[in-house]
Amino acid sequence: MAPVDPHSFTDSAHPFTVHISLTLYFDFPSSTISAATLLSLAAPYSGDLTLDTRSLSISAVLDPVSLSPLPFSLSPAQPDPVIGQSLTVSLSGQSQVLVVSKTSPSSSALQWLSPPQTFNKTHPFVYTQCQSIHARSVFPCQDTPAARIKYSAKLNIPSQLSAVMSAKHEGRRPPLPAEAHGVCEDAKWCGDDRIVEEFVMEQPIPPYLFAFAIGELGFREVGPRTRVYSEAAPTVLDAAAREFAETEEMIKAGEALFGPYDWERFDLLVLPPSFPYGGMENPRMVFLTPTLIKGDSSGAQVVAHELAHSWTGNLITNKNNNHFWLNEGWTTYAERRIVEAVQGENRAALSIALGWKALVEEMERFKDNLEFTKLKMNQAGIDPDDVYSRVPYDKGFQFLWRIERQIGRPAFDDFLKKYIATFKFQSIDTDMFLDFLKENIPGIENEIDLKLWTEGTGLPPDAMELVSNIYSKIVSLVNEFNLGKIPREDEVSDWRGQEWELYLKSLPKSVEASQIKALDACYRLSESKDYEVRVAFLQLAISARCGDYYNEVEKTLKEVGRMKYLRPLYTALVQGDGREEEKAVARRIFSDACGGYHPIAKGIIEAILAKHV
Ligand code: BES
Ligand code: ZN
Repeated sequence: MAPVDPHSFTDSAHPFTVHISLTLYFDFPSSTISAATLLSLAAPYSGDLTLDTRSLSISAVLDPVSLSPLPFSLSPAQPDPVIGQSLTVSLSGQSQVLVVSKTSPSSSALQWLSPPQTFNKTHPFVYTQCQSIHARSVFPCQDTPAARIKYSAKLNIPSQLSAVMSAKHEGRRPPLPAEAHGVCEDAKWCGDDRIVEEFVMEQPIPPYLFAFAIGELGFREVGPRTRVYSEAAPTVLDAAAREFAETEEMIKAGEALFGPYDWERFDLLVLPPSFPYGGMENPRMVFLTPTLIKGDSSGAQVVAHELAHSWTGNLITNKNNNHFWLNEGWTTYAERRIVEAVQGENRAALSIALGWKALVEEMERFKDNLEFTKLKMNQAGIDPDDVYSRVPYDKGFQFLWRIERQIGRPAFDDFLKKYIATFKFQSIDTDMFLDFLKENIPGIENEIDLKLWTEGTGLPPDAMELVSNIYSKIVSLVNEFNLGKIPREDEVSDWRGQEWELYLKSLPKSVEASQIKALDACYRLSESKDYEVRVAFLQLAISARCGDYYNEVEKTLKEVGRMKYLRPLYTALVQGDGREEEKAVARRIFSDACGGYHPIAKGIIEAILAKHV
């Protein structure tokens, strides 16, 4: 067996799946999905075909033509903690396989919310987060981005709810008994209280881009190809429509820079606060955290990022997670170009400065684990969620920006367009990128140490911190703070969230509790509506052991589930010696709050607590 991906049981000698037809029955009382998955392979195959699964129970594997059972087994008996279990099916010349399975209530891709956990409190809600390796916990598949798959899906759900997917909506209609495909008893499938929503995805995507959400949903139109969806609450929908009003302008900026937008629609879905990421680039419908809605359109930068993935990530995809920088580094570069075009150079410069700060911190975090400071990293045996960091994003950005500085922007823009046109709808690795670079920019390897950038640890000497005018002003105010001076109101009157964030992140960790309080007394940063600012402030407050703010920390950890906020706050509480009080606080908050976290976030915080407590 020759694996194509350290995170998949997929064998390079087997044909890839090219199409999946899914029939899903959602049972909210038991938080489970019964699934019939019809996989079509690129070619007929004889022998053992391996698929990825995680916490799925398999009730039958059939030849879909004869409906005769096919021999199958799940191994290893004790699932691998990172990659799960392989479903091995014995084929004799078939090109299609039908698997009947059921998810577990603890499926790692799914968060099931009971009515009290939703905004309107009347209906349940469920949604997926499949990146990096969680699609296998919903249905069996070759869960590697080396595979590119088209699909169709029928979702059988309670009729009071509606479904959205990262796919084209084909219709909503009553169920037909013949469709049950053995996924459940016909009577249950066809009850009066059920409805079927149908979708198709006509462009081939890596499995991690499979996504749906089901609940009491509403939407607002925000542009010719964009609607914003969320729970059907007028206040949330109106605020979201305002926050994301410049989306069409961003899509046009993206098209001018990177070529045509190939996915037809660019809809946005605002999820409940427990969504573990800022955004997820699910094609045709990006998933977003509600924490972006802060009333100053700065949340649009995350939209710019997810939009940029429409070219870098969704059109050109990393072949496996060792090359994740190809997705996120390119997208961070593309995001900042869109932000520069739509919001101006100053906004892009602040984003570059914040990225640099985060990158320097990650170098410290991984100082005993240098593998994870590389662009091309070896993640064999490693859970991608455990080593998620800013390195692929901002070291990747730095590498591409370095090339831009070398050849100039016009030449870089031509290169970028050609790169996308050449590799679209393909999954590639770092070497393929480097070969293409050297071919199109002859001699580049003599100017830039490409091997050091892609395979070396830490930051190469030609990485660069961008010093803009705004940033210099922030640095001078930080220096004054270190001499005991709180910034005057007229010095910060035009500051938005990003300026405050950069200011707070530039202050020394050892700042005195009294100074923290003085700053907060003037600017109420601990209660900021902007979570980036609030969390940066609370992190400093915890480091300074300023117990006055632990209530605010608790409130924040209970109202959001975005890992970008959970991780630093829990870490600040438990890190270091002699912090018994803070450790106890962290344990108590986690045990109260974890029922509301997504399984991925819960796992990450459990690991942080286990390491320190
Ligand atoms: N694709 C990522 C989110 C992701 C990465 C999910 C790895 C699971 C595994 C998404 O595009 C992303 O980068 N989101 C960022 C947005 C930010 C960089 C603007 C986030 O969630 O913070
Ligand atoms: Zn991204």
